[in-house]
Amino acid sequence: MSARHLDEKSYNQFRIFLEQQCGIVLGESKQYLVKSRLAPLMAKFDLDSLSELVTRTLAPVERQLRAAVIDAMTTNETLWFRDDYPYKLLQNKLLPEFKAQKTPIKIWSAASSSGQEPYSIAMSVLEYQQKNPGSFPRGVQVIGTDISTTMLEHCKYGHYDSLALARGLSAERKQRFFETGDNGMLKIKDQVKKMVSFRPLNLLNSYSLMGKFDIVFCRNVLIYFSPEIKAKIISQIHGVLNKQGYLFLGASESLSGINQDFSMLRCNPGIVYQKKQPN
Ligand SMILES: C[S@@+](CC[C@H](N)C(=O)[O-])C[C@H]1O[C@@H](n2cnc3c(N)ncnc32)[C@H](O)[C@@H]1O
Repeated sequence: MSARHLDEKSYNQFRIFLEQQCGIVLGESKQYLVKSRLAPLMAKFDLDSLSELVTRTLAPVERQLRAAVIDAMTTNETLWFRDDYPYKLLQNKLLPEFKAQKTPIKIWSAASSSGQEPYSIAMSVLEYQQKNPGSFPRGVQVIGTDISTTMLEHCKYGHYDSLALARGLSAERKQRFFETGDNGMLKIKDQVKKMVSFRPLNLLNSYSLMGKFDIVFCRNVLIYFSPEIKAKIISQIHGVLNKQGYLFLGASESLSGINQDFSMLRCNPGIVYQKKQPN
């Protein structure tokens, strides 16, 4: 039997483990995905087979291995100003509503991947402030969270190669918000970086230490979860949103059948959800 063979029992145990740990639901025949994502870890953790890797992953003491497995199984696809409309709505509708707020505006990027989303939010805020001097007297704080420690390190480092920079960033923004970094990469300027902070958060866990937010971006992550987990996450996000706070989902995601406590605002282009006022 090859080292990359994954027997059915191990595969099924792994599916349950993954859904319990981070909500990601694997279909019944996604063995190829598990194999291709986990095979590189076999050498790193000195394991002879994928089945052994799965067995070790399930052992409570293997924290480091578990984190590496979750890292390997998450999809981190992202880009700058993804879908465009959330950032247009931010600049044309949401930020004007908050511009005189006497407390800091708090914006949460709840699955920040390698940082493009929270940094795009910060760039949008800086552009808005330039056109509207004196707005946000107490400042704006953007908080990026993710389950993947590797992605969070990437976010904090704030360096991007030409491939990443080519996805969604205009020449003007590249010029304005980046400077020369290490090894031919460009790094995010301090002006943007200092508005954004990062910390680990598994969306399945409690958000009680997160504080309250005016705007939440929870984009392109709910698609991996079961309807029950989606509902739990949305209800927790509802709990951390300030009165009449806003929620952006991914372009292919919706709250239909999941939660009734938000109003859906069709903005042409795009949709944003707003926390309903209690009756
Ligand atoms: C496809 S990326 C989306 C990035 C960004 N929001 C966007 O729309 O471009 C999904 C991110 O969700 C993160 N993720 C997956 N499961 C998670 C969980 N249970 N808690 C927090 N983040 C999770 C992954 O690590 C990954 O970085």
